[in-house]
Amino acid sequence: MQQLRLAVIAGDGIGPEVTLEARRAMRAALDGVELVETEFELGAAHYLATGEVLDDATLERLAQHDAILLGAVGGDPADARLAGGIIERGLLLRLRFAFDHHVNLRPTRLHSNVESPLRDPGAIDFVVVREGTEGPYVGNGGSLRTGTPHEVANETSVNTAFGVERVVRFAFELAERRDRRLTLVHKKNVLVHAGGLWQRIVDAVATEHPDVAVDYLHVDAATIFLVERPSRFDVIVTDNLFGDILTDLAGAVGGGIGTAASGNLNPSGEFPSMFEPVHGSAPDIAGRGIADPTAAILSAALLLEHSGHPDAGRRIRDAVDADLDARVGGAATGRSTSEVGDAIVDRISTSKEQA
Ligand code: NAD
Ligand code: IPM
Ligand code: MN
Repeated sequence: MQQLRLAVIAGDGIGPEVTLEARRAMRAALDGVELVETEFELGAAHYLATGEVLDDATLERLAQHDAILLGAVGGDPADARLAGGIIERGLLLRLRFAFDHHVNLRPTRLHSNVESPLRDPGAIDFVVVREGTEGPYVGNGGSLRTGTPHEVANETSVNTAFGVERVVRFAFELAERRDRRLTLVHKKNVLVHAGGLWQRIVDAVATEHPDVAVDYLHVDAATIFLVERPSRFDVIVTDNLFGDILTDLAGAVGGGIGTAASGNLNPSGEFPSMFEPVHGSAPDIAGRGIADPTAAILSAALLLEHSGHPDAGRRIRDAVDADLDARVGGAATGRSTSEVGDAIVDRISTSKEQA
């Protein structure tokens, strides 16, 4: 039987709670494929217990898988032992950089019955293509005279023509398969070097896609449109930091951060791609069984679609769609994490039996 070798990093806080449901959904959805799951204990709790953030040997073992499902990593922001982005930089970003996850795909779609915080949301269906391996995230910075009144703290945003072009090409190709509208979001009126490079590359690649309507927004103005008229967006392409910020906002307006899925893609397939909710470990609600597992379950659907199992991905997506359609009002509408998971798994199993 065909195998899908899945590495699972459940992580911290609500990470294990939501990945449990995502894994159940995958097992229910796959047909004629053996899901071989390997759990990797990594994250803030693992680091505090063992001192390991992410060893080279662990990275090497992760690389042997077809795909990675990640819940969330990171502890209490007030915990001094975790200061300095030890987990965020040392684990999450290390994975994205080591496995060359240069496309960070973050779709948003609001269901008609799911309540948005927007008074008049209109039709919300767009995808943010966030660059994943460059920008201010590369860790090219440092500080001088640290801790003195004369401290100088620098973070340098790194943008290469190679790195920008490959993510822009991905975004145009995606736009071709969607509504053929692409918006570059940057801050080229201030960040003139990086912004200039992004705009020139978008202009150049646009000539190869004459049927895609292209526009540009400064990131500050983009936040206005995301709230006032999100229907204006189809595909947004943007840098690593702007994409991080915009996609929490996108999650909020699109029916709740608990429904926002993402894929860190290595499109060449040289390394495993990694799928995770947009949200974090949510220490404020962890351990209470109330986290919405939808984002993790939809991330599992993305994982299956990008790992050569589109039918199984579609089964999950249809089941989530039906569950969301049944949610009149708020996000998880008072159900527990496992109740939402049960409802979705039941729908998947029923659809498989009927097929
Ligand atoms: P967060 O996303 O964890 O939480 C923000 C808010 O959203 C909280 O009120 C939380 O309760 C709510 N929320 C998040 N997921 C939810 C869900 N599934 N259902 C219902 N409500 C949900 O962001 P934060 O508080 O800024 O970060 C907490 C920790 O997570 C930090 O250590 C941070 O570095 C880390 N983090 C990790 C990832 C990741 O692993 N991919 C992503 C973001 C943040
Ligand atoms: C996300 C998170 C991460 C990011 C952090 C935890 C490093 O916020 O996946 O959106 O900034 O990319
Ligand atoms: Mn984020």
